[in-house]
Amino acid sequence: MCGIIGIVGKSAVSDRLVEGLKRMEYRGYDSAGICTVFDDQLVRRRAEGKLANLVKVLKTDDAAGNIGIAHTRWATHGAPTTSNAHPHATGEVALVHNGIIENFKQLRDELTARGRTFESETDTEVVAHLVSEQVEAGHSPADAVKAVLPRLRGAFALAIAFRQFPDFLIGARLGSPLVVGYGDGETYLGSDALALAPLTQKIAYLEEGDWVIITRDGAQIFDKDNVPVTREITTSGVSAAQIEKGNYRHYMQKEIFEQPTVVAQTLSSYIRPLEQTVALPQMDFDLASVKRITIVACGTSFYAGMVAKYWFETFARVPVDIDVASEFRYSDPVLEEGGLALFISQSGETADTLAALRHCKENGQTIAVVVNVPTSSMAREADLLLPTHAGPEIGVASTKAFTCQLAVLAALAAHLALVKGKLSAEEEREIVRHLIEAPAALNAALAHDDEIAAMAHLIAPARDVLYLGRGPDYPLAMEGALKLKEISYIHAEGYASGEMKHGPIALIDEAVPVIVLAPSGPLFEKTVSNMQEVRARGGKVVLISDAEGIAEAGDGCLATIEMPTVHPLIAPLVYAVPVQLLAYHVAVAKGTDVDQPRNLAKSVTVE
Ligand code: M6R
Repeated sequence: MCGIIGIVGKSAVSDRLVEGLKRMEYRGYDSAGICTVFDDQLVRRRAEGKLANLVKVLKTDDAAGNIGIAHTRWATHGAPTTSNAHPHATGEVALVHNGIIENFKQLRDELTARGRTFESETDTEVVAHLVSEQVEAGHSPADAVKAVLPRLRGAFALAIAFRQFPDFLIGARLGSPLVVGYGDGETYLGSDALALAPLTQKIAYLEEGDWVIITRDGAQIFDKDNVPVTREITTSGVSAAQIEKGNYRHYMQKEIFEQPTVVAQTLSSYIRPLEQTVALPQMDFDLASVKRITIVACGTSFYAGMVAKYWFETFARVPVDIDVASEFRYSDPVLEEGGLALFISQSGETADTLAALRHCKENGQTIAVVVNVPTSSMAREADLLLPTHAGPEIGVASTKAFTCQLAVLAALAAHLALVKGKLSAEEEREIVRHLIEAPAALNAALAHDDEIAAMAHLIAPARDVLYLGRGPDYPLAMEGALKLKEISYIHAEGYASGEMKHGPIALIDEAVPVIVLAPSGPLFEKTVSNMQEVRARGGKVVLISDAEGIAEAGDGCLATIEMPTVHPLIAPLVYAVPVQLLAYHVAVAKGTDVDQPRNLAKSVTVE
């Protein structure tokens, strides 16, 4: 999604704005631009495609000035061309925007009728014209913004520069995050703390409806009713080192290998290792009285939710409804008074999930949130915040956030089972012992990296790949397929093994590799039968199992990947590793852009 940075600085800002955009590349974008205020002029430079193109433009045509705004755009309205790239400007005003102005058509018609002309197809340009009209009529920039914000429907984070006012920028947020960074004689605006990481650690998070004037001396924040407010200045834990690749070739690779550490880090907040008990944060509702849980999430977080459904139902015997967030509100879900709704999200800003959360809140649900960004909108709106401690996840393909989500959800399931009286203290201790084994098991899984890299050429030429799994390995199959699709652009589907014979089996031939996830255990025999159905039709199978499973069913497979033998509870965490590594190495073999795959955004802040 779009990234915003603004600097009111003591020295030239152009290079620092571009550096800020680089730190936000992970969000996904298809054009970029900057605008400084210099010598009573708005100096605007824009380019389609990667940031390197903008840097090239700036090499021949620099943007001088100590104040400026910059943007990476993920196209919504209008193709990713230079004329649609932000900043959008009139003679007086330049601005950058993240989000969608839903009533832009009506506003554009109105502005056109007043004789204003547009140079882009974007929704954003109407905001530049609306603010500009006010300034041209003699209103102050603050009054102009105050007049325009109530006219905008939809979601926005805005940073606005004014030709005649080289000492301040104005920012505003509604529905899309925006932070203020406090430096030494400088002040910043950014989409997130990551964007500002090397500039400052002192961050204030704007709240819904806030707008702000930033100067070199600090910031004046106003709420949606234009009342001056103070927002707490916190020290962001994000260091520049955390957002570097280190010795890894890609962020995704680094994040896959961080999993033993970050899962251990996450678990340490949810278990007491000495007592071998689960420890959840304080909650002001009675978990034991929960009769039904509604889980809502998107993408990889949704698959973590599907695994959790198995756990909540098998351990705690609490029924679970689960839906993807983009469908949830439109299916008119039945939400019983006093129910628990659980939202899972890496970013905590996914628009569909956030909208579903608000819908549940309005309908009397208690809101629990498993989230990786503790300052995110979802975290702030939760009744029960269950943070994952994966650290910043930069690769667009989610990896370490997923295994950390599973760690939190396993702890929650165990605790729910305990308070529901479905688990004895000894059984709880056993679960905790297995969770403690997870980081070492993840390490053992990662040890197969070279072997998986060596087999990537078997999958890379395929047009289609099927992933099969049963029980909690079924969501893992879908997660494996999603990873492969996202970064290698190979069409892939995840199926419940037993469902394959009801249709997808028609796809099987020797050109369609089938990845079978089958840890030995109660579901193994059945999954292997489905695997034999594939092989009987000439299908090429890659079996991911443990030593026992491979000894029993590995013969005749195209390849096998041996996982450590683990308890079924932690198998979903461990089996995530080979599917992540397989997708990663296939993408590397195909030469795709692993960390910034085409068309994708890291956090999807539009519905
Ligand atoms: O930040 P969230 O967890 O809410 O994001 C949800 C999905 O957009 C995300 O998982 C997406 O599917 C990833 N690119 C998967 O790798």
